[in-house]
Amino acid sequence: MATVLVASNRGPVSYKLGEDGSLDARRGGGGLVSGLSAVSSQESLWVCAALGEGDREAVRRGVGEPGVRMLDIDPDTYADAYNGIANSVLWFLHHHLYDIPREPVFDAEFRRRWDAYRAYNRAFAEALAAEADEGAAVLVQDYHLALVPGQLRELRPDLRIAHFTHTPWAAPEYLRMLPEDIHRELLRGMLGADRLGFHTEAWAASFRSCAGAEGEGTRVAVHPLGVDADELRALAHRPEVDERLARLREEVGDRKTIVRVDRTELSKNILRGLLAYRELLTTHPEWRDRVVHLASAYPSRQDLESYRLYTASVAALADEINAEFGTPDWQPVLVSVQDDFPRSLAAYRLADVALVNPVRDGMNLVAKEIPVVSEAGCALVLSTGAGAYEELKEDALTVNPYDVSETADALHRALSMPTSERADRTKRLATAATALPPQRWFLNQLEALRAR
Ligand code: G6P
Repeated sequence: MATVLVASNRGPVSYKLGEDGSLDARRGGGGLVSGLSAVSSQESLWVCAALGEGDREAVRRGVGEPGVRMLDIDPDTYADAYNGIANSVLWFLHHHLYDIPREPVFDAEFRRRWDAYRAYNRAFAEALAAEADEGAAVLVQDYHLALVPGQLRELRPDLRIAHFTHTPWAAPEYLRMLPEDIHRELLRGMLGADRLGFHTEAWAASFRSCAGAEGEGTRVAVHPLGVDADELRALAHRPEVDERLARLREEVGDRKTIVRVDRTELSKNILRGLLAYRELLTTHPEWRDRVVHLASAYPSRQDLESYRLYTASVAALADEINAEFGTPDWQPVLVSVQDDFPRSLAAYRLADVALVNPVRDGMNLVAKEIPVVSEAGCALVLSTGAGAYEELKEDALTVNPYDVSETADALHRALSMPTSERADRTKRLATAATALPPQRWFLNQLEALRAR
């Protein structure tokens, strides 16, 4: 039994099944992992889903870590809930990603998947209900688990329940695309919580407009997750990062760098970022051979066709730019598709310019991490659609994510920024970025929930 419970689709650990039948445990990072470390592991429990075969095998063998309970949900139910609803419907709604002439289509197949989503949420609600002490605090994470607060409230009215949304929240007219009954079920699920958290005022306001008068019993609050400067700097100075930095320096030479690091994710706007870089090289030919664009775009959600096509388009456009402008000594874009955190940290250290141009993004921690780690100070080109915009707009060069020409111009201004101005801005960006580090972010929510 536990007094603090966290629930999220992706847990802090995952297992890989080796050919010889061995199980290899890998611990993940991220805000939630360091946030929860603020609470003693004796009193806490993290409930998450088994994501793949390795995780399922670990559950079957009873292998696990103290303080973590993985749910082995039927694989078909899981796939329909995770890919069919969470990633293909809720993610698309909250990020406004639909290609409207074609999508969304809410038909019988959608209804079948929604039933799976409800069952997957129920599995979490039941596990939490079984594991929670009387009056325990339960902190549910993200769009995967939007129905859990309502379901859990029915099973255990004594619990204190919070839900935190790491994505944006859809504008009311966008959310109303959902069939009426599903729309209501989704909001009712969320409103089962005592407290709802968002990264920015903009997303909290969207939620309030969607919920209208029904939302009165639930407190909606803003907790903008920041980064832990000491932890991040320590990670960025490990020997494996130094080694990758040396390699990158060789590739880049004495040219300037424009750095971006993302999952290959539709909302990250990687294509318009590349188009802006191409326009920069066209309208400001003086930058040719004097800059390299380091773009880490590691694969994500490749079960979805739209993501596979997007990943292929990113690679194709980068190739086109290299073919158009490259010379025997200079490759204008270096794309890395490896999920290689040490290499990303090395790129952060080397960054002269950071490009963070998502169309819509819950927070975007890359925008906060690069200023903390960059060695010579970096100029941040930041989209108005990123949650981080609210805290970083004063010292970033802000752009409309759809305006490729404005982005190209911002890249030029960023590359041309005097060193002292760059350093001053970076210092202020790093201060804003570290205002609410993960442990404080988590404890603030826990204290507020307990003081309900
Ligand atoms: C976003 C979501 C997280 C999710 C992550 C990676 O940041 O807010 O909940 O874990 O993307 O996506 P994935 O589908 O790979 O877990």
